[in-house]
Amino acid sequence: MKMISRRDFLKASAVVGAAGVLTACGGSSASTAASSTAASAAASSTAAASGSANIGVCIYQFADNFMTLYRTDLEEYLKDMGYAVTIVDGKNDQNTQTEQINTFLQQGVDVLVINPVQTTSAQTIVDTIKPSETPIVFINREPDKSVLDSYADKCCYVGADARQSGTYQGELILETETQGDINGDGKITYIMCKGDPENIDAQYRTEYSIKALTDAGKEVECLYEYLDNWDQTTAQQDVANALAQYGEKIEVVFCNNDAMALGALQSLQQAGRTVGKDVYLVGVDALSEAVQNVVDGNMTGTVLNDDVGQATAAAAATKLYVEGSKVEQYYWVDYVKVTKENAAQYIK
Ligand code: BGC
Repeated sequence: MKMISRRDFLKASAVVGAAGVLTACGGSSASTAASSTAASAAASSTAAASGSANIGVCIYQFADNFMTLYRTDLEEYLKDMGYAVTIVDGKNDQNTQTEQINTFLQQGVDVLVINPVQTTSAQTIVDTIKPSETPIVFINREPDKSVLDSYADKCCYVGADARQSGTYQGELILETETQGDINGDGKITYIMCKGDPENIDAQYRTEYSIKALTDAGKEVECLYEYLDNWDQTTAQQDVANALAQYGEKIEVVFCNNDAMALGALQSLQQAGRTVGKDVYLVGVDALSEAVQNVVDGNMTGTVLNDDVGQATAAAAATKLYVEGSKVEQYYWVDYVKVTKENAAQYIK
């Protein structure tokens, strides 16, 4: 069921929120977020009739549920602006993506939108592109600030602050009847299904979901953190193993994204566990299938990773580069907590 049209939602979320200051955490470098003046240009369907441009878009991997939503939105908004858009699949291989970037440079694209395979390769990517003076909009996988600084005025990042999504996951657990302590032993016992360990989203969601619990004065016990690389099948297998090993001890299953939460849910159901009764389960992204499970009570909650808002901001930043206008260094889009009460509106 589609509650609001994609276009309406796009308009509603078109304004990119001003950013605060990001503080260093867990050894990662501090980055100062510039306030955003991103126009809601992408929301406008007025095509840039003349002044058309060629945009190259590099996605880390097409076989990623969330990035599939994101790239579909982005393609639509850029085409609405009258641009010629080519989107390529990095197949989760940095060498493949680097070749694709080189091909785009040979073709003389006007702007590159890049979702890097490896954020640690972002500096090399910038160094490769710099001589051509082609502007870069990095998306979804946040490079170090030093990388953006090294190509100032020609390079920006559009994303969401993953700490917020982690905090929301912890809050979703605190809002349950038992506040996560189903067996009443005074501590919240959990397992964590983690995304790509190099990805800041995975790092922050892992850290901040638990921080929300400890900040609220809760005692926590981590049984195991599984490296599931954002992948549903891997999470399904790991959670099946965890259930065999730890059984009823597991009170909460935290998943860094919904794909893994859906895998976890399959294993929980197979093991006869009931979410909301003898276990809690949270994800991030608000994929339609996950949101439906929240509505049905099979997931405790999820967090909207706003693909529409981020694609809107990325298209708006691209347009500013095409037009030669001033572009900020960071554009941030808010996450939204999705509970049984508000979930229906997030089914796309
Ligand atoms: C999403 C994941 C996705 C990853 C790709 C994250 O923000 O939550 O679902 O796999 O981005 O980089």
